Amino acid sequence: MLDVLGNLERTHSCGELREGDVGKQVVLMGWVAKKRDFGVLTFIDLRDRDGVTQVVMNEEDAGEAHSKAKNLRGEFVIAVKGEVVMREGTHNAKLATGDIEVHASEIMILNDAKVPPFQLEVAGSENLADESTRLKYRYLDLRRPQLQHNIRMRARAVAAIREYFDGRGFIEIETPILLKSTPEGARDFVVPSRIHTGKFFALPQSPQILKQLTMISGFDKYYQIARCFRDEDLRADRQPEFTQLDMEMSFANQEMAYREIEGMFGHVFKLIGVELPAQWPRMTYAEAIRRYGSDKPDLRFGMELADLSSELAGTDFAPFASVLENKGEIKCITVKDRADYSRKQLDELQDFAKRYGAGALAWIKVGDEITSSLLKVLGDSKISELVVAAQAEKGDLVLIVAGRKSVVAASLGALRIEIAKRENLIDRTAYKPLIVTEFPMFEYDEETDCYAAAHHPFTSPMDEDLEKFTTAVNDDSHHQLLGEVRAKAYDAVINGYECAGGSIRIHQKDIQALNFKALGLTVEKARERFGFFLDALEYGTPPHGGFAAGIERTCMILCGTENIRDVMAFPKTASAQDLMMDSPGEVDTAQLDELGIGIRPE
Ligand code: AMO
Repeated sequence: MLDVLGNLERTHSCGELREGDVGKQVVLMGWVAKKRDFGVLTFIDLRDRDGVTQVVMNEEDAGEAHSKAKNLRGEFVIAVKGEVVMREGTHNAKLATGDIEVHASEIMILNDAKVPPFQLEVAGSENLADESTRLKYRYLDLRRPQLQHNIRMRARAVAAIREYFDGRGFIEIETPILLKSTPEGARDFVVPSRIHTGKFFALPQSPQILKQLTMISGFDKYYQIARCFRDEDLRADRQPEFTQLDMEMSFANQEMAYREIEGMFGHVFKLIGVELPAQWPRMTYAEAIRRYGSDKPDLRFGMELADLSSELAGTDFAPFASVLENKGEIKCITVKDRADYSRKQLDELQDFAKRYGAGALAWIKVGDEITSSLLKVLGDSKISELVVAAQAEKGDLVLIVAGRKSVVAASLGALRIEIAKRENLIDRTAYKPLIVTEFPMFEYDEETDCYAAAHHPFTSPMDEDLEKFTTAVNDDSHHQLLGEVRAKAYDAVINGYECAGGSIRIHQKDIQALNFKALGLTVEKARERFGFFLDALEYGTPPHGGFAAGIERTCMILCGTENIRDVMAFPKTASAQDLMMDSPGEVDTAQLDELGIGIRPE
């Protein structure tokens, strides 16, 4: 028989009691985290969201409570009435309540519990049960103190963001979820309309167009904690459904947007006692790619890329010669004190680099003597020249990739991070923010031979590149100039994570029309998709711009985790499934009929 709670109320949480509370009569409620039965004495660790308190049942003083305690098992829900007493003997330094314990006079069993499918209390994340089991029983996994902490940190971060923008005169405006397609480069999730059979809504990839419309509406400063949906390939820091702090402001330039980025993150990072610099360093996209092989460089360690192309100009080693002839690059990174890497380790790194498109990974070891995979083909003196160009010293290892510029950057950029992780070169207590500026406006897609918007189609070209942009769009023979146009687009990067991205927008209809043309949209197609927006641009659009910050990415840094699911209450798996609800799932034929939809057999 379970006990009835009735009017009984908690007096304290399980994380609250301290030495100063000794002598008080208290009522605690929570889950049985652990039970130890020593005959006359039974000990329980009672857990709630705030912590754990040790409860003692003594057969001599509280016989009924003691015998009831015999029936308790892990995760039973109980209420305990008792007195706060100083702990005898050793205090438990691991618990905030470790100085005291509660001597129970009465316990109530409010609910029982099945044996959980995995152990909740484990020391160290490496001992956790397998993630798919934990996701299936997410409500149990969420009881773990680490996830409780993360989810509460997320709530505090969102509250701090609201506090920041409210204080700066921004207005929170909600925008619809049932929408028309909003391009952010991913596929849309679509929702069929029952009333308008055969038609579909699209879920927002972001509220981009709507927030721009709020500027045209004269709200001047907008923000929203916005849900976004993107059907794209998932990675460790991506989910199909995620949340952004989305903001936009009128009469804005890039510096004004950077100030809000710095201000907002500065405010939020105070939550973990970190003082970010008032002004973040800025770096152009071109410089970031050149020095770090990445548009989101982790600045917590060095190991910058060095260019060996000029040292190798005129080489008769055919693979390098052909790379240079085809406007490729030969670059390297230098790993300090790792000339002792084994063949096996180098092979592993080569396999890693190949995943990013590198054909091979050449190496030079600056040991007692210099050895290199290129020694035979380049000769001693050229290898020594490369060692100098790489600024390698005795004991160092130089890793070299040759190929297309994008491949060299991607593979060396990724290797840089991989090696820093393996070699523990990252200062985990450091927070290194950066604003990356002057992103390219377009990305060239070799498969379709088309240029796509690198950020989104409403991003403004840089004033300096406007002429190039106009020429490229209007004169077919200069179309490839699009690849050189830079945009007023920027990202906020912290510790190698792209935490936010934004741009100054196009506010003139002529330029917006040119941009659609550049992207290969006919006038008719542009009208069909964005006619409402092109119309709106004709009614007095103020210059405007803004950014959106990924709430999950920000919380990953605040919580020190590399797994995005650790900062989401009910996340999806890497293959976009909810294992707890078993979604996506099938729907009834009746529902499909109503929508006028049939499923084509495989
Ligand atoms: P962008 O596409 O760069 O810009 O997104 C902004 C930020 O959102 C986060 N983010 C994600 N987080 C988790 N899972 C995902 N799948 C995911 N995709 C993006 C990142 C990213 O920096 N409308 C523009 C913003 C603007 O121009 O104002 C936009 O959405 O942290």
